[in-house]
Amino acid sequence: MTANLRKVALVGGSGQLGPYLLKALQADPAFEVTVVSRQSSTASFPPNTSIVRVSDSYQKNEFLDVFKGQDAVVLSLNFPAEQQHHNMLVDASVEAGVKRLIPSIWSGRLDIPEVRQIFPLAASKAGLLEYVKFKEGSAPGWSYTAVVCGPFHDLCVRTNFYDMDPRSHSATIWDDGNAKFSVTTHDTIGLAVTKILRKPSETANRTVYISSFETSMNELLAAYKSATGVPEWKVTHGDVEQGIKEAQEVITSSENFMDRMQAIGRLGLLVGLKEGLGGDFVAEGLSDNELLELPRNDVTETVMKLLNV
Ligand SMILES: NC(=O)c1ccc[n+]([C@@H]2O[C@H](COP(=O)([O-])OP(=O)(O)OC[C@H]3O[C@@H](n4cnc5c(N)ncnc54)[C@H](OP(=O)(O)O)[C@@H]3O)[C@@H](O)[C@H]2O)c1
Repeated sequence: MTANLRKVALVGGSGQLGPYLLKALQADPAFEVTVVSRQSSTASFPPNTSIVRVSDSYQKNEFLDVFKGQDAVVLSLNFPAEQQHHNMLVDASVEAGVKRLIPSIWSGRLDIPEVRQIFPLAASKAGLLEYVKFKEGSAPGWSYTAVVCGPFHDLCVRTNFYDMDPRSHSATIWDDGNAKFSVTTHDTIGLAVTKILRKPSETANRTVYISSFETSMNELLAAYKSATGVPEWKVTHGDVEQGIKEAQEVITSSENFMDRMQAIGRLGLLVGLKEGLGGDFVAEGLSDNELLELPRNDVTETVMKLLNV
């Protein structure tokens, strides 16, 4: 029998992704959403949002209280909180009788050993997902859905993680620039969460793969040229293997936080581009876009929108 997942607790409804999850859940009359936010959080939420405050130290007993009576829990946590509290939140969802947990995954592929070897963030996410999977069957009615969405398109455009700089009109094209990879917009991730909760049977106890479109460095460059109205860009060519080595070195040895963040973003991109690592979910036959009836987006239109042109 299909469970009716109506009451949803969203932990981490602010930050980069959280507001889009909240917007989509609030826009769908099927759901009644409660945001769980830290006492010290300065995040603001839309008027009439139901908010429960928890201590900054994220105590399990508080979450047990908050999760009781909730049908679903969605986690979208910042990195240190994820490392420290994710397993406890999984346990609390099981013990409180929640029916569906959407864990704080929101990443690229985690199922390929080489991806986990190359990219420490993927290894860390895979560890979180292992624990979630381990809980399957531990309480009647509890289930999970993990979301793999590739790079956040909005973030990549806004922070130059694609190595395309619309101010200096300069770009790096990796290898021949033709490798396709899946990316997803924040809006589509939000919509996907509502569709997952509306299709609990089809999405139970597995990873769903979503994307707004499959693109390549060459396509992205054409989109940026069109969006900026500048046809001539300064293009540097890079080798994916070499780029991976350099990014790994920065992550392990740099003392500069911003350099490390940029290297993590680059590694996320390169792991999606590297041949054989399955960055194109549609070509790999993994895509759940049709099941979840997700819209397809146009790369140029989205780049223009995100660059405000
Ligand atoms: N695929 C990609 O390209 C990509 C890119 C970025 C992020 N992600 C993933 O998306 C998810 C959300 O990331 P995000 O960047 O949106 O997260 P974020 O902005 O860093 O934080 C999300 C929320 O975590 C809550 N939080 C709990 N403890 C916290 C603490 N000690 N310090 C700060 N915030 C704390 C906050 O909610 P309150 O303030 O309401 O308590 C915050 O708004 C993560 O799983 C991340 O790995 C994926």
